Amino acid sequence: MGSGTGRLSRRVAIVTGGSSGIGRAICRLFAAEGATVVIGDQTPDAVEGGVPTQQLIADAGGTATFVRVDLGVSADITALATSVLHEHGRIDILVNNAATYVGKPLLETTEDEWNRVFAVNVTGVFLLTKAVVTQMLRQELREGVRGRIVNISSQHGMIAAPRDIAYGTSKSAIVYITRQIATDYAADGFICNAVAPGKIETGKGGREDEPEWTEYWRSRTPLPRLGTPADVARAALFLASDEATYITGANLMVDGGWSAS
Ligand SMILES: NC(=O)c1ccc[n+]([C@@H]2O[C@H](COP(=O)([O-])OP(=O)(O)OC[C@H]3O[C@@H](n4cnc5c(N)ncnc54)[C@H](O)[C@@H]3O)[C@@H](O)[C@H]2O)c1
Repeated sequence: MGSGTGRLSRRVAIVTGGSSGIGRAICRLFAAEGATVVIGDQTPDAVEGGVPTQQLIADAGGTATFVRVDLGVSADITALATSVLHEHGRIDILVNNAATYVGKPLLETTEDEWNRVFAVNVTGVFLLTKAVVTQMLRQELREGVRGRIVNISSQHGMIAAPRDIAYGTSKSAIVYITRQIATDYAADGFICNAVAPGKIETGKGGREDEPEWTEYWRSRTPLPRLGTPADVARAALFLASDEATYITGANLMVDGGWSAS
Protein backbone atom coordinates (compact mmCIF):
# COMPACT_ATOMS: atom_id res chain seq x y z
CA MET A 1 0.00 0.00 0.00
CA GLY A 2 1.21 3.45 -0.88
CA SER A 3 0.51 5.44 2.29
CA GLY A 4 2.76 3.60 4.74
CA THR A 5 6.44 2.83 4.88
CA GLY A 6 6.12 -0.93 5.27
CA ARG A 7 6.75 -1.03 9.00
CA LEU A 8 4.62 -4.20 9.28
CA SER A 9 5.36 -5.79 5.93
CA ARG A 10 5.19 -9.61 5.91
CA ARG A 11 3.39 -9.54 9.28
CA VAL A 12 0.08 -11.27 9.98
CA ALA A 13 -1.89 -9.33 12.59
CA ILE A 14 -5.12 -10.26 14.38
CA VAL A 15 -7.08 -7.23 15.61
CA THR A 16 -10.16 -7.95 17.70
CA GLY A 17 -13.00 -5.50 17.54
CA GLY A 18 -11.61 -4.25 14.25
CA SER A 19 -14.97 -3.41 12.72
CA SER A 20 -15.44 -0.17 14.66
CA GLY A 21 -13.81 2.75 16.38
CA ILE A 22 -10.27 2.33 17.63
CA GLY A 23 -9.94 -1.22 16.29
CA ARG A 24 -10.98 -0.04 12.85
CA ALA A 25 -8.27 2.65 12.88
CA ILE A 26 -5.69 0.09 14.02
CA CYS A 27 -6.66 -2.29 11.20
CA ARG A 28 -6.43 0.46 8.60
CA LEU A 29 -3.07 1.74 9.82
CA PHE A 30 -1.57 -1.74 10.14
CA ALA A 31 -2.75 -2.61 6.61
CA ALA A 32 -1.32 0.66 5.30
CA GLU A 33 2.00 -0.38 6.84
CA GLY A 34 1.93 -3.65 4.94
CA ALA A 35 0.39 -6.09 7.43
CA THR A 36 -2.07 -8.79 6.46
CA VAL A 37 -4.87 -7.95 8.87
CA VAL A 38 -7.40 -10.38 10.31
CA ILE A 39 -10.40 -8.55 11.72
CA GLY A 40 -11.98 -10.58 14.52
CA ASP A 41 -15.33 -9.11 15.45
CA GLN A 42 -18.88 -10.14 16.27
CA THR A 43 -20.08 -8.16 13.24
CA PRO A 44 -18.49 -6.69 10.11
CA ASP A 45 -20.59 -3.54 10.51
CA ALA A 46 -19.05 -0.43 12.04
CA VAL A 47 -20.88 0.88 15.10
CA GLU A 48 -20.32 4.42 13.80
CA GLY A 49 -21.53 3.49 10.30
CA GLY A 50 -19.76 3.44 6.95
CA VAL A 51 -18.16 0.82 4.79
CA PRO A 52 -16.94 -2.36 6.57
CA THR A 53 -13.27 -2.24 7.57
CA GLN A 54 -12.30 -5.12 5.29
CA GLN A 55 -13.72 -3.21 2.32
CA LEU A 56 -12.04 0.05 3.32
CA ILE A 57 -8.69 -1.72 3.43
CA ALA A 58 -9.23 -3.50 0.13
CA ASP A 59 -10.23 -0.22 -1.53
CA ALA A 60 -6.95 1.29 -0.30
CA GLY A 61 -4.96 -1.60 -1.77
CA GLY A 62 -4.35 -3.46 1.48
CA THR A 63 -5.02 -7.02 2.62
CA ALA A 64 -7.61 -7.91 5.25
CA THR A 65 -9.97 -10.75 6.09
CA PHE A 66 -12.90 -10.82 8.46
CA VAL A 67 -13.63 -13.62 10.93
CA ARG A 68 -16.84 -13.50 12.94
CA VAL A 69 -16.12 -14.18 16.61
CA ASP A 70 -17.86 -13.61 19.91
CA LEU A 71 -14.98 -13.19 22.33
CA GLY A 72 -17.25 -14.32 25.13
CA VAL A 73 -17.48 -17.80 23.56
CA SER A 74 -14.38 -19.98 23.88
CA ALA A 75 -15.22 -22.16 20.84
CA ASP A 76 -15.30 -19.01 18.67
CA ILE A 77 -11.86 -18.02 19.92
CA THR A 78 -10.39 -21.42 19.10
CA ALA A 79 -12.00 -21.24 15.66
CA LEU A 80 -10.51 -17.76 15.08
CA ALA A 81 -6.96 -18.88 15.87
CA THR A 82 -7.37 -22.05 13.79
CA SER A 83 -8.74 -20.20 10.78
CA VAL A 84 -5.89 -17.66 10.82
CA LEU A 85 -3.34 -20.46 10.83
CA HIS A 86 -5.16 -22.32 8.09
CA GLU A 87 -5.36 -19.18 5.96
CA HIS A 88 -2.03 -17.50 6.66
CA GLY A 89 0.21 -20.11 8.29
CA ARG A 90 1.49 -17.83 11.06
CA ILE A 91 0.57 -15.02 13.47
CA ASP A 92 3.03 -12.20 14.19
CA ILE A 93 0.91 -9.63 16.02
CA LEU A 94 -2.15 -9.83 18.26
CA VAL A 95 -4.08 -6.71 19.21
CA ASN A 96 -6.63 -7.41 21.93
CA ASN A 97 -8.89 -4.42 21.33
CA ALA A 98 -12.54 -5.55 21.53
CA ALA A 99 -14.40 -4.73 24.71
CA THR A 100 -17.91 -4.46 25.99
CA TYR A 101 -19.43 -2.08 28.52
CA VAL A 102 -22.28 -1.85 31.00
CA GLY A 103 -22.24 1.78 32.10
CA LYS A 104 -23.58 1.21 35.62
CA PRO A 105 -22.24 1.65 39.15
CA LEU A 106 -21.91 -1.13 41.74
CA LEU A 107 -25.47 -1.19 43.03
CA GLU A 108 -27.09 -1.27 39.57
CA THR A 109 -24.80 -3.87 37.99
CA THR A 110 -26.26 -7.37 37.85
CA GLU A 111 -24.21 -10.54 38.18
CA ASP A 112 -25.01 -11.41 34.55
CA GLU A 113 -23.76 -8.01 33.36
CA TRP A 114 -20.58 -8.36 35.40
CA ASN A 115 -19.99 -11.88 34.07
CA ARG A 116 -20.52 -10.85 30.46
CA VAL A 117 -18.03 -7.97 30.71
CA PHE A 118 -15.47 -10.31 32.25
CA ALA A 119 -16.16 -13.06 29.70
CA VAL A 120 -15.43 -10.72 26.78
CA ASN A 121 -12.91 -8.24 28.20
CA VAL A 122 -10.83 -10.57 30.36
CA THR A 123 -11.48 -14.28 29.66
CA GLY A 124 -11.64 -13.55 25.93
CA VAL A 125 -8.22 -11.88 26.09
CA PHE A 126 -6.85 -14.74 28.21
CA LEU A 127 -8.09 -17.45 25.82
CA LEU A 128 -7.14 -15.74 22.57
CA THR A 129 -3.70 -14.77 23.85
CA LYS A 130 -3.15 -18.33 25.04
CA ALA A 131 -4.07 -19.72 21.62
CA VAL A 132 -1.89 -17.19 19.80
CA VAL A 133 1.14 -17.56 22.09
CA THR A 134 0.90 -21.34 21.67
CA GLN A 135 1.20 -20.84 17.91
CA MET A 136 3.87 -18.15 18.11
CA LEU A 137 6.06 -20.48 20.18
CA ARG A 138 6.22 -22.76 17.12
CA GLN A 139 7.47 -19.89 14.95
CA GLU A 140 11.05 -18.77 14.46
CA LEU A 141 12.40 -15.61 16.03
CA ARG A 142 12.53 -12.55 13.77
CA GLU A 143 15.24 -10.14 14.89
CA GLY A 144 14.99 -11.60 18.36
CA VAL A 145 11.20 -11.36 18.56
CA ARG A 146 8.80 -14.27 18.30
CA GLY A 147 5.58 -12.30 18.55
CA ARG A 148 4.14 -8.97 19.66
CA ILE A 149 0.98 -8.51 21.69
CA VAL A 150 -0.70 -5.14 22.13
CA ASN A 151 -3.57 -4.97 24.60
CA ILE A 152 -5.92 -2.00 24.55
CA SER A 153 -6.52 -1.16 28.19
CA SER A 154 -7.88 2.22 29.30
CA GLN A 155 -7.00 5.05 31.60
CA HIS A 156 -9.93 3.56 33.50
CA GLY A 157 -7.80 0.55 34.29
CA MET A 158 -5.68 2.96 36.32
CA ILE A 159 -8.25 5.40 37.67
CA ALA A 160 -11.94 4.83 38.40
CA ALA A 161 -14.34 4.62 35.46
CA PRO A 162 -17.26 6.89 36.31
CA ARG A 163 -20.30 4.71 36.96
CA ASP A 164 -18.95 1.64 35.13
CA ILE A 165 -17.51 -0.72 37.73
CA ALA A 166 -17.47 -3.89 35.62
CA TYR A 167 -15.71 -2.22 32.70
CA GLY A 168 -13.14 -0.38 34.82
CA THR A 169 -12.30 -3.50 36.79
CA SER A 170 -11.92 -5.53 33.60
CA LYS A 171 -9.53 -2.93 32.19
CA SER A 172 -7.47 -3.06 35.35
CA ALA A 173 -7.08 -6.79 34.71
CA ILE A 174 -5.78 -6.02 31.21
CA VAL A 175 -3.02 -3.84 32.62
CA TYR A 176 -2.06 -6.72 34.90
CA ILE A 177 -2.22 -9.51 32.31
CA THR A 178 0.04 -7.40 30.09
CA ARG A 179 2.73 -7.32 32.78
CA GLN A 180 2.31 -11.01 33.58
CA ILE A 181 2.67 -12.21 29.98
CA ALA A 182 5.52 -9.77 29.34
CA THR A 183 7.53 -11.16 32.22
CA ASP A 184 6.62 -14.85 31.95
CA TYR A 185 7.41 -15.03 28.22
CA ALA A 186 10.19 -12.47 27.78
CA ALA A 187 12.85 -15.17 27.52
CA ASP A 188 10.86 -16.81 24.71
CA GLY A 189 10.99 -13.67 22.60
CA PHE A 190 7.59 -12.17 23.31
CA ILE A 191 6.94 -8.45 23.52
CA CYS A 192 3.68 -7.62 25.30
CA ASN A 193 2.50 -4.07 25.95
CA ALA A 194 -0.72 -2.16 26.47
CA VAL A 195 -2.08 1.13 25.18
CA ALA A 196 -4.35 3.01 27.58
CA PRO A 197 -6.61 5.47 25.75
CA GLY A 198 -8.18 8.45 27.45
CA LYS A 199 -11.43 9.74 25.98
CA ILE A 200 -11.44 8.88 22.30
CA GLU A 201 -14.30 10.08 20.09
CA THR A 202 -15.31 7.16 17.90
CA GLY A 203 -18.78 8.26 16.82
CA LYS A 204 -20.42 5.36 18.60
CA GLY A 205 -23.08 7.53 20.24
CA GLY A 206 -24.32 6.85 23.77
CA ARG A 207 -22.39 8.97 26.24
CA GLU A 208 -20.62 10.67 23.29
CA ASP A 209 -23.95 12.30 22.41
CA GLU A 210 -24.59 13.58 25.94
CA PRO A 211 -23.21 17.13 26.56
CA GLU A 212 -22.67 16.50 30.28
CA TRP A 213 -20.26 13.66 29.48
CA THR A 214 -18.46 15.61 26.74
CA GLU A 215 -17.97 18.54 29.10
CA TYR A 216 -16.67 16.20 31.80
CA TRP A 217 -14.12 14.57 29.44
CA ARG A 218 -12.94 17.94 28.17
CA SER A 219 -12.59 19.28 31.69
CA ARG A 220 -10.40 16.28 32.62
CA THR A 221 -8.17 16.39 29.51
CA PRO A 222 -5.26 18.88 29.58
CA LEU A 223 -4.70 18.84 25.79
CA PRO A 224 -7.30 21.07 24.12
CA ARG A 225 -9.12 18.28 22.29
CA LEU A 226 -10.40 14.77 22.88
CA GLY A 227 -8.60 11.83 21.28
CA THR A 228 -9.18 10.24 17.90
CA PRO A 229 -8.98 6.54 16.98
CA ALA A 230 -5.92 7.40 14.89
CA ASP A 231 -4.12 8.68 18.01
CA VAL A 232 -4.46 5.24 19.57
CA ALA A 233 -3.69 3.40 16.34
CA ARG A 234 -0.33 5.21 16.01
CA ALA A 235 0.67 4.11 19.51
CA ALA A 236 -0.43 0.53 18.77
CA LEU A 237 1.60 0.60 15.54
CA PHE A 238 4.70 1.70 17.40
CA LEU A 239 4.38 -1.11 19.92
CA ALA A 240 3.60 -3.68 17.20
CA SER A 241 6.57 -2.62 15.08
CA ASP A 242 10.30 -3.24 15.28
CA GLU A 243 10.70 0.40 16.36
CA ALA A 244 9.64 -0.57 19.89
CA THR A 245 12.83 -2.10 21.22
CA TYR A 246 13.47 -3.01 24.86
CA ILE A 247 9.90 -2.06 25.79
CA THR A 248 7.72 -4.76 27.32
CA GLY A 249 5.12 -4.84 30.09
CA ALA A 250 4.39 -1.13 29.54
CA ASN A 251 0.99 0.54 29.67
CA LEU A 252 1.34 3.51 27.33
CA MET A 253 -1.10 6.29 28.20
CA VAL A 254 -2.66 7.93 25.12
CA ASP A 255 -4.95 10.18 27.10
CA GLY A 256 -4.07 13.80 26.33
CA GLY A 257 -2.59 14.06 29.81
CA TRP A 258 -5.75 12.99 31.69
CA SER A 259 -3.93 10.64 34.05
CA ALA A 260 -1.07 13.10 34.56
CA SER A 261 -3.29 15.85 35.92
N1 LIG B 1 -13.40 5.06 23.02
C1 LIG B 1 -12.80 5.38 24.16
O1 LIG B 1 -12.91 6.52 24.64
C2 LIG B 1 -11.94 4.38 24.88
C3 LIG B 1 -11.26 4.81 26.02
C4 LIG B 1 -10.45 3.93 26.69
C5 LIG B 1 -10.32 2.63 26.23
N2 LIG B 1 -11.00 2.24 25.13
C6 LIG B 1 -10.81 0.84 24.70
O2 LIG B 1 -10.54 0.81 23.32
C7 LIG B 1 -11.07 -0.40 22.77
C8 LIG B 1 -11.96 -0.06 21.61
O3 LIG B 1 -12.96 0.83 22.06
P1 LIG B 1 -13.93 1.58 21.05
O4 LIG B 1 -14.36 2.82 21.73
O5 LIG B 1 -13.30 1.65 19.71
O6 LIG B 1 -15.14 0.55 21.05
P2 LIG B 1 -16.38 0.37 20.07
O7 LIG B 1 -17.52 0.01 20.96
O8 LIG B 1 -16.50 1.53 19.15
O9 LIG B 1 -15.97 -0.89 19.19
C9 LIG B 1 -15.80 -2.13 19.81
C10 LIG B 1 -15.73 -3.20 18.74
O10 LIG B 1 -15.60 -4.45 19.44
C11 LIG B 1 -16.57 -5.35 18.95
N3 LIG B 1 -16.98 -6.25 20.01
C12 LIG B 1 -17.63 -5.93 21.15
N4 LIG B 1 -17.91 -7.04 21.85
C13 LIG B 1 -17.42 -8.07 21.14
C14 LIG B 1 -17.40 -9.47 21.32
N5 LIG B 1 -17.98 -10.06 22.39
N6 LIG B 1 -16.80 -10.26 20.40
C15 LIG B 1 -16.24 -9.70 19.29
N7 LIG B 1 -16.24 -8.38 19.05
C16 LIG B 1 -16.82 -7.59 19.97
C17 LIG B 1 -17.73 -4.47 18.48
O11 LIG B 1 -18.54 -5.17 17.52
C18 LIG B 1 -17.00 -3.27 17.90
O12 LIG B 1 -16.69 -3.47 16.53
C19 LIG B 1 -11.79 -1.11 23.91
O13 LIG B 1 -10.92 -2.06 24.48
C20 LIG B 1 -12.04 0.00 24.90
O14 LIG B 1 -12.14 -0.48 26.21
C21 LIG B 1 -11.82 3.07 24.44
